[in-house]
Amino acid sequence: MSLSSRVPVLAIDGPSGTGKGTVGSRIAETRGWHLLDSGALYRAFAFAASEQGIALDDIEGINSLDQETEFTFKTTSSGEVEIRVNGRDVSMRVRSEQGGRLASMYAAVPAVRSRLIEYQRSRRQDPGLVADGRDMGTVVFPDATLKIFLTASPEIRAQRRYNQLKSKDFDVTLRRLEAQVTERDQQDAGRKVAPMVAAPDAVVIDTSHRGIGEVVEEVNRLLNIHLRERD
Ligand code: DC
Repeated sequence: MSLSSRVPVLAIDGPSGTGKGTVGSRIAETRGWHLLDSGALYRAFAFAASEQGIALDDIEGINSLDQETEFTFKTTSSGEVEIRVNGRDVSMRVRSEQGGRLASMYAAVPAVRSRLIEYQRSRRQDPGLVADGRDMGTVVFPDATLKIFLTASPEIRAQRRYNQLKSKDFDVTLRRLEAQVTERDQQDAGRKVAPMVAAPDAVVIDTSHRGIGEVVEEVNRLLNIHLRERD
């Protein structure tokens, strides 16, 4: 077993609006574990690439981008991840639904995914890591201690995204968001490389009619069992 694979990982995957981010950050905070919001990484990368005019098929540009660009992610006291590109706070711009769409487009490019995999794995540090995204349990941490895949009905997910974006003063409508969220999920689930899918050994939890506290409790309960089993 390599040194880092001894560090426990909780992988939480699923589409947007299922509560992955909130569940993940709460568990990371209470356990004092590191948090990897891989969506923030894809959003920041896509933002920088598009700002620098790097096209989706410009493999050379994609390969050189993260060597020259510095990405920083800091969890704030409210549990949100603050995203900086070369020191500039771009959180608001990349958190928009357009930012999500752009991230989803770049995320389908194999060169982008392979550029970002090492950074994601490097976040596996003591005492543990909570990683949320689309391929945490399938590709990035296939040996995760516990894999969770969250789902919820499309209507509920769109409503949650709507509330989330509205609370940050984004100008959104529920109808438009429903269409955008569905389109993004189809793109993420349908791509050839690292598609969004539950790992065969993931525990699937439908959060449609469950409060965040309840889901956190359930995941913590499962995590305790899995941590005991690996000892
Ligand atoms: O989790 P999020 O909504 O912030 O992610 C934005 C997009 O980034 C998502 O639509 C697809 C991409 N993504 C990905 O392909 N793989 C991940 N592990 C995380 C995000």
